[in-house]
Amino acid sequence: MADKSHNFISRRAKNIPPSGIRKFFDLSEGVKDIISLGVGEPDYVTPWNISDAAISSIRKGHTMYTSNYGLLELRQELSRHLYKLYGVGYDPDKEIIVTSGASEALDIAMRAIIDPGDEVIVGDPTYVAYIPCITMPGGIPVPVPTCMDDDFEMKASEIEKRITPKTKAILLNNPNNPTGAVIKKDELLKIAALVKEHNLVVISDEIYDQLVYDGAHTCFASLPGMKTHTITIGGFSKSYAMTGWRVGYICAPDEIIEAIMKIHQYIMMCAPIMSQIGAIEALKNGDDTVAEMVADYNRRRRTIVAGLNNIGLECHDPKGAFYAFPSITSTGLTCDEFAEKLLVEQHVVVVPGTVFGQCGAGHVRCCYAVALPDIEEALVRMGRFVKKYGG
Ligand SMILES: Cc1ncc(COP(=O)(O)O)c(C=O)c1O
Repeated sequence: MADKSHNFISRRAKNIPPSGIRKFFDLSEGVKDIISLGVGEPDYVTPWNISDAAISSIRKGHTMYTSNYGLLELRQELSRHLYKLYGVGYDPDKEIIVTSGASEALDIAMRAIIDPGDEVIVGDPTYVAYIPCITMPGGIPVPVPTCMDDDFEMKASEIEKRITPKTKAILLNNPNNPTGAVIKKDELLKIAALVKEHNLVVISDEIYDQLVYDGAHTCFASLPGMKTHTITIGGFSKSYAMTGWRVGYICAPDEIIEAIMKIHQYIMMCAPIMSQIGAIEALKNGDDTVAEMVADYNRRRRTIVAGLNNIGLECHDPKGAFYAFPSITSTGLTCDEFAEKLLVEQHVVVVPGTVFGQCGAGHVRCCYAVALPDIEEALVRMGRFVKKYGG
């Protein structure tokens, strides 16, 4: 145990708040009959053809480092995939890096573009890793409020109000964690106009791109003139149920990729080769399984949204990802009280909205990547709970 007087811990590390989500996992550990709507990951195991491809490759002795950029075949598949889905062309040789999850991608993209004091516009509520990823290289997060009346869609007009001479970037998350919001194409076009006018860079985290239920996903880089302004981040964790594999990607113009590569090569070298081989299989032969999982998430989404509204927790229609973000103000509890009491009294885990930012106050995040009978049972228990607290 280090002697405290040595004060080994950096100010930067001390200033990072612990993730509010973890606390709820810890609290729920060992509790019987728990139903967790807490964790943001698919309940599916990875489709077998993907696992099989990786296992076979290990048997064949593919256990080494790959190119820092990732396996060329994977970059070629990614390039084809993004072109097929969104019509945006990325050069597999120069414009794609395979990363250890979208998590690494976010970190190294931020470090490559942010100088201390640069302002980064980011939605509120927002994915828990964004603020630390902005502040670690010395950036200043500038939150843009979003609200249930607008289905939590980030608005160009609200972004515009917050642009200053120090604004360097806009961090978009579309579809959004924790709200499930999808930014509509006409709003994205308005944001693109601001990006052009103020010469900004967009980090577009599109990890939930294939989990869109009403209408099609718009890749920000595919909008006119936006490819040169955009760092597209994606991954395999959510769409292909591959959270444990740690594989994601960054696509950007070559000049930005070169800068990001300088960081990636030293801190990660490459994503694990077996995961990259699994990812190739996912892209080549995964479409049908993704479609089945999306159809299933959609059934669960309808059940949870209708159920939450029925028990008196007003919930907008989340158009993407796998989260519902109902208001819990009818209970008179704060979102922290709601989540803690619900866990203790009814053994259901949800995450308080404030974990994701101030605008999350009065809401909780319920992940519906959970078996339908469990969602139904969670709704029964939540209904009892809401009744007790006067909702
Ligand atoms: C919006 C968002 N971005 C990135 C990630 C990280 O994904 P990965 O597992 O690829 O690191 C998550 C995971 O929850 C997420 O919700």
